[in-house]
Amino acid sequence: MTETWDPEQYDKLSDYRRRPWAELMSRVGASSPEIVVDLGCGSGLHTLDLAVRWPHARIIGVDSSGEMLDQARRNDSLERVEWVRADVESWDPAQLGAPIDVIIANSLLQWVPSHMRLVPGWIRALAPGGCYAMQVPGNYNAPSHTLLREVAAKSPRAAELLPRLGRSEAVSEPAVYFFLLAGLGCDVDAWETTYQHVFEPGTFQGEPVLEWTKGTALLPVFEVLKDEGERADFVAAYGSALLQAYPRHPFGTVFALRRIFAVAHKK
Ligand SMILES: C[S@@+](CC[C@H](N)C(=O)[O-])C[C@H]1O[C@@H](n2cnc3c(N)ncnc32)[C@H](O)[C@@H]1O
Repeated sequence: MTETWDPEQYDKLSDYRRRPWAELMSRVGASSPEIVVDLGCGSGLHTLDLAVRWPHARIIGVDSSGEMLDQARRNDSLERVEWVRADVESWDPAQLGAPIDVIIANSLLQWVPSHMRLVPGWIRALAPGGCYAMQVPGNYNAPSHTLLREVAAKSPRAAELLPRLGRSEAVSEPAVYFFLLAGLGCDVDAWETTYQHVFEPGTFQGEPVLEWTKGTALLPVFEVLKDEGERADFVAAYGSALLQAYPRHPFGTVFALRRIFAVAHKK
């Protein structure tokens, strides 16, 4: 069940995504890693930060989307990163031929319902003292997502849409990641933060939360609704529901986004 990603749409909001990335990476203690892997690297904007932070490291970006990796290669004008097309469910860390010093999964695991059983393999692949860092949105029950499921439930294509919208239910609470990683022999720092993002008037044409979800949560809907008319009807119904849930204020639209973080250093 892979989506067709649109790097241009996704990267429109990159400024809002920088802070959780920076807050995650500020807890990673590696000083001179040799091998760094960014799982679900997307268009590589963050992966390229890793190349700046660790100029001597071998950096590998793994993603299942050809569109995202094409953009990543365009962004990487110095050809600093090895871009690998693979599904993280089947990607084998052993193919790198050496233990990994840092593995990152930033805003990936909400797309991978099996992730709880993949994490032990990633920790095993770390060198002693190595670090695993993950961040995942914890907004499955926020209006942005509940309204999406409500509109899908009323759609004539509900039977096809609803099964595709349940994947991020597999995201767990910070304590679950804490105990998983501590049980795997790591020193763990796990926490959550809810950001009150403010989209100032005029930041986007149309409903700003809709612009956000067009780059992410709506992708499974777009996989089903290929017909432009059907898609436009769905987006109009969802957009007007979003406008009620996220009203416009004189200072802008407020979008609360909860994110869950865990950073594990292998003992
Ligand atoms: C929300 S984007 C995050 C991109 C990047 N990590 C960042 O920090 O902005 C999620 C990325 O995960 C990728 N992805 C989703 N499921 C995947 C899977 N099973 N295997 C590999 N990549 C996957 C998508 O193609 C997309 O590029």
